[in-house]
Amino acid sequence: MIYFDSAATSYYRPESVALAVAEAIRHMGNSSRGMHGASLDASRTIYEVREKLGTMFGCGPSQIAFTSNVTESLNTVLGGLLRPGDHVVTTVLEHNSVLRPLYRLEQQGVELSAAGCDALGNVSAQDIESLFQNNTRAVVCTHASNLTGNLTDIREIGRLAHERGILMIVDGAQTAGVFPVDLFKDHVDVFCFTGHKSLLGPQGTGGMAVRKGLLISPLKTGGSGIKTFDRGQPEQMPERLEAGTLNGHGIAGLGAGIDYIRSQGMEKLRQKEQHLAGMFYEGVREIPGVTLYGDFSKEERAPIVSLNIKEMVSGEVSYLLTEKYGICTRSGGHCAPLMHEAFGTKEQGMVRFSFSSFNTGEQTEQAVEAVKEIAES
Ligand code: ALA
Repeated sequence: MIYFDSAATSYYRPESVALAVAEAIRHMGNSSRGMHGASLDASRTIYEVREKLGTMFGCGPSQIAFTSNVTESLNTVLGGLLRPGDHVVTTVLEHNSVLRPLYRLEQQGVELSAAGCDALGNVSAQDIESLFQNNTRAVVCTHASNLTGNLTDIREIGRLAHERGILMIVDGAQTAGVFPVDLFKDHVDVFCFTGHKSLLGPQGTGGMAVRKGLLISPLKTGGSGIKTFDRGQPEQMPERLEAGTLNGHGIAGLGAGIDYIRSQGMEKLRQKEQHLAGMFYEGVREIPGVTLYGDFSKEERAPIVSLNIKEMVSGEVSYLLTEKYGICTRSGGHCAPLMHEAFGTKEQGMVRFSFSSFNTGEQTEQAVEAVKEIAES
């Protein structure tokens, strides 16, 4: 089996991640809930992972709040910051994890604008800026399209937003663990991430890095291990955004994933992924009947290549790839409805190949051959 669906979730992971989860399941107590060794161990492990994430995203450990995935992070941030009468700017690149919370807020009186993209799926910072209004409270945009791999220039968008006192919220689902992000240098107020993709952690882990001083109203309230007699959720971060027992077992695995990235070097892993994606792109781009989506003139892009073969429905291609060649891809709508509208692929969908540093050149050549055979058949 050859796995090219790492943009959906990592499949190849360092063994240390599985070992860390197993160790935590056997020995971990509930963090911040007791004075005994098992509870203190949990607190220590979780704190260390906060520190690692804070170092990765340019903030202190207490500014990292854990959630179960990036969708929960985005729901928390958008619901916790936007109020009726506010205007928010987003883009057509977005995943439903951004769009659906925004559509729900729109029904509650939040005004919404979405910047369009060019023929290659690029959104410009200036197009986003042109949508700013007097009541614009926030920009929310993805760091990389999960469909094309195109990056957005978050630093420039954030700079333009901050010039106007507008908050900058980033969906980092496809870039956390691949590209360096620094809240301060990149002018980002909240960076939302998931743990199970390029951070190589288990599913059910994720979170957000929040600029110090920004107070987000919590989505959930409940036990925090501190200030038990207060009727409201504690004001302080991270407890403010972390009601209930954390996924300590998963967070332990996430810590091991981050350790692996740090030991190898994020840049080195990214270069390998980009090399494989580039190799695949070069291999398929001239095949008659293959249509590619995205801007491949840019060196820096998420390691994603989406395509269609003639008029074939993407699900059929993806099925053939897995059945005949053992190659795993994602097909269909990819939860990115506005991108499909922009590319005119609502009916056909797209077949997405997404690359991990654990993939090999040989696997990539096999994928090119498989696409060639399907296109010739
Ligand atoms: N958001 C994930 C993807 O793009 C699941 O496949």
